[in-house]
Amino acid sequence: MNVLGIETSCDETGVALYSTERGLLAEALHSQIDLHAVYGGVVPEIASRDHIRCLLPLIRQVLAEAEVERPDAIAYTAGPGLVGALMVGGGMAAGLGLAWNCPVVAVHHMEGHLLAPMLEDEPPAFPFLALLVSGGHSMLIAVRALGDYELLGTTLDDAVGEAFDKTAKLLGLGYPGGPALAALAETGDERAFDFPRPMLNRPGHDFSFSGLKTAVMIEVRKAAERGDIETCRADIAASFQRAAVDTLVRKAIRAANSVGLERIVVAGGVGANKLLRQEIADQFPGRVFYPRMAYCTDNGAMIAIAGALRLADATPISEIRAQARWPLDSLAVPGTRD
Ligand code: KG4
Ligand code: ZN
Repeated sequence: MNVLGIETSCDETGVALYSTERGLLAEALHSQIDLHAVYGGVVPEIASRDHIRCLLPLIRQVLAEAEVERPDAIAYTAGPGLVGALMVGGGMAAGLGLAWNCPVVAVHHMEGHLLAPMLEDEPPAFPFLALLVSGGHSMLIAVRALGDYELLGTTLDDAVGEAFDKTAKLLGLGYPGGPALAALAETGDERAFDFPRPMLNRPGHDFSFSGLKTAVMIEVRKAAERGDIETCRADIAASFQRAAVDTLVRKAIRAANSVGLERIVVAGGVGANKLLRQEIADQFPGRVFYPRMAYCTDNGAMIAIAGALRLADATPISEIRAQARWPLDSLAVPGTRD
């Protein structure tokens, strides 16, 4: 069975064709980074318009590359995300579903991230602990089966990707800030500043990154007043990254131990962070799984595989679903809900 995956929740137009027998057949990704960079962040209206412009040509390209005339099912990101951007993918999925008379699956964007490691040669077996870290979410989830998700902890304020992006902005780096900050950090001394490791001394598995962000802001201001911001930018970036990664790693390991899980999956855009990948693998005695770098950030392949695993939820098209907010733990095991 061939499933076409469509991702348009934010600033990447992602399309992929996944075969339940043969794996990933073709994929294409168009990033809008250049369009939004001048504004320092994603502009929703520009995002929607660009998805409209790019989506159909990318679908044509993927089908041609896979030499498949039409898929057997379509999966699209129905939320969470920017509503206008989601509507573009949902509208296209609905239209093509009607034209091709094939079932359509509404996929949860974060479940797509969660299942991205299933695209790899050695996918994780259930159960596992998922550390889901992106621009909009920081979550620790006990994943007992597909669709059986217990949210153990979440962020009380900024998502960790957002903290990377805002800190990058403070340091004068462009958008998206996460990769730029990580690159700058490689040239700095991570012990130069002793930034707080938020929430480590408290029970529970929630995160909070606003205190860390404020601590960075104070140091940036002090450095600017001293007139040596240029010389310590890399040290601030490295010390921030170290504090954020320490927090994520220690909280994830603690959460896994508290519920007796021996596997950890790291996914979402911040999962592309090299220090995070390395530290969690070094410190956790169990096995750690992550998607390849390209499947950490938004892409069509993760939506296609999530749709393939959720074919039991496919419906003949009757509505276009676009939900800005959609709690991950409200999902159910495939086939158990209408
Ligand atoms: O999953 P994603 O592509 O989009 C959302 O669903 O939000 O994640 C994007 C986030 C951004 O905040 C970006 O700065 C961050 O992931 N990110 C990184 C790295 N690569 C992307 N953060 C830290 N280090 C990286 N290497
Ligand atoms: Zn994402």
